[in-house]
Amino acid sequence: MTAHGSVWLTGTDRPSYAALDVDLDVDLAVVGGGLVGLTTALLAQREGFRTVVLEAGRIASGTTGYTTGKVTSQHTLIYAELVARHGEQAAAHYAAANVAGMELLARLAEEAQIDADLTSAPSYAYTLDPRRGSELEKEAAAARQLGLAATVSDRPDSTDLPFDVAAAVRFDDQFHLDPVRYLDGLAHELTRIGGIILEHTRATSVEERRDHTVAVSTSAGTVRADQVVVATLLPINLIGGYFARTRPSRSYGLAARLRTPAPASMTISIDSPTRSTRPWLAAGPGGIIVVGNGHETGAVEDTMALYQDLEDWTRSTFDVEAVDYRWSAQDFVTTDKIPYVGRAPGHQQVQVATGFNKWGLSNGAAAAIMLTDLIADRPNEWLDVFRASRIGDAKSVASLLKDNLQVGKEFVGGHLGKHRRRAAGDLQPGQGGIVELDGDTVGAYRDEKGDLHTVTPTCSHLGCPLHWNSAERSWDCNCHGSRFDVEGAILNSPATRSIARDQD
Ligand SMILES: Cc1cc2nc3c(=O)[nH]c(=O)nc-3n(C[C@H](O)[C@H](O)[C@H](O)COP(=O)(O)OP(=O)(O)OC[C@H]3O[C@@H](n4cnc5c(N)ncnc54)[C@H](O)[C@@H]3O)c2cc1C
Ligand code: FES
Repeated sequence: MTAHGSVWLTGTDRPSYAALDVDLDVDLAVVGGGLVGLTTALLAQREGFRTVVLEAGRIASGTTGYTTGKVTSQHTLIYAELVARHGEQAAAHYAAANVAGMELLARLAEEAQIDADLTSAPSYAYTLDPRRGSELEKEAAAARQLGLAATVSDRPDSTDLPFDVAAAVRFDDQFHLDPVRYLDGLAHELTRIGGIILEHTRATSVEERRDHTVAVSTSAGTVRADQVVVATLLPINLIGGYFARTRPSRSYGLAARLRTPAPASMTISIDSPTRSTRPWLAAGPGGIIVVGNGHETGAVEDTMALYQDLEDWTRSTFDVEAVDYRWSAQDFVTTDKIPYVGRAPGHQQVQVATGFNKWGLSNGAAAAIMLTDLIADRPNEWLDVFRASRIGDAKSVASLLKDNLQVGKEFVGGHLGKHRRRAAGDLQPGQGGIVELDGDTVGAYRDEKGDLHTVTPTCSHLGCPLHWNSAERSWDCNCHGSRFDVEGAILNSPATRSIARDQD
């Protein structure tokens, strides 16, 4: 029987933290208890800034708790494109920032004695298509030009996968980890040195005030800080306009036990659909994690078919004894492949980090270094490349315009009722969808007991129509990636308000 949920979030003895119950004054408020938020908070607290982390759910309940957990500067194919689009120096800064991010992750684990199964492994990006071998050669050459030790091979047995490849690029000395044990360790270390963590505390707004403080409002009180870092995967509400500069993209994962030893390396295909693998150490020598099948949030209703497809590939590739876990999660993609890190446009004391393109462990730790430098008012040579206020090159602008046109169509199309509606009575147990109920159009889900759970099927961020996601039993917004559960509670930002029907 496959459990639906992240393989990393199965521990029962995880530490928990109280919620905010009084107003607070601090030097730094960090919104979001994922990799970026906790790493930044720890670095800043170590430098003497009195820091509080406000987390809407529990530590690691965001994408970091659902990641593949590869810590690598090999980001599928990126370096040849970065050199071509942004120039060699910018590409070199991206590479150096990510190598520094990896080193920081490893150093913090060692200093704080975090047992997160950090394990060194080579990372491969491969293709099965002989016509794409030259892309891998260019990638390896660009990576080497930037100081990364990449090698390329066209031997069929270039990787330790149980099938022949046409070519593969190999990065040595990368590593993988258990991201939740890592974050729990960072959280423990942060509180040990005096930082504060508040769970179940959702920020609803971030506002710079005339008295040069920033007020972070929550339903339980206000935190006033000299500076704020918004590390909520995508900044909440309208901050910085990042909702219009990124696209939300989901991926699917499973953790399986094989009857034979799993490949010890980390691998990712450059072909479509993506197949990413790494060892799952807790399950012994046959443990493997497989991730892939990415698509834009809210664009697929029958998401169960994507789990099935991933499982079919895994079973046809390896000798699978059992698939123990399956889960999905999302990240935000930028048009120029570089995350946004730094001061949010229109703000003096609010910093952001977003758009990690599904490579947010090394990039996220690098972001924490850059944000801490900003907080401490130190220069940082990478910041210009990751600049949070950039618009991008002509190709990025064209792509942004296309994306936003699509969002406009989604908004109008959804409200003109192109989405399928049926009578509430037609929903079978376990089914959800847009239905007519007492003259209203509502989002409804009928649970296994036959009870109907209804929501307002309009996103509380900017009003786009919501789509039913059958495997996650959630309401997903294709415009900017907000997601809600069947009661209307927020699962993913940028929204900060529920869509429960009594909120109308
Ligand atoms: C399936 C998948 C696999 C991936 N695999 C890899 C990989 O192998 N290697 C890699 O480098 N990257 C990978 N990534 C990307 C990487 O996991 C993410 O980029 C990274 O974890 C993002 O960290 P974060 O701290 O920015 O966000 P998160 O971990 O999402 O943390 C944000 C936190 O903010 C909280 N929050 C949201 N709104 C509010 C609010 N209003 N108030 C308070 N708190 C709030 C959330 O609850 C959450 O805990 C993967 C991504 C996906 C989707
Ligand atoms: S996330 Fe922006 S409208 Fe839904």
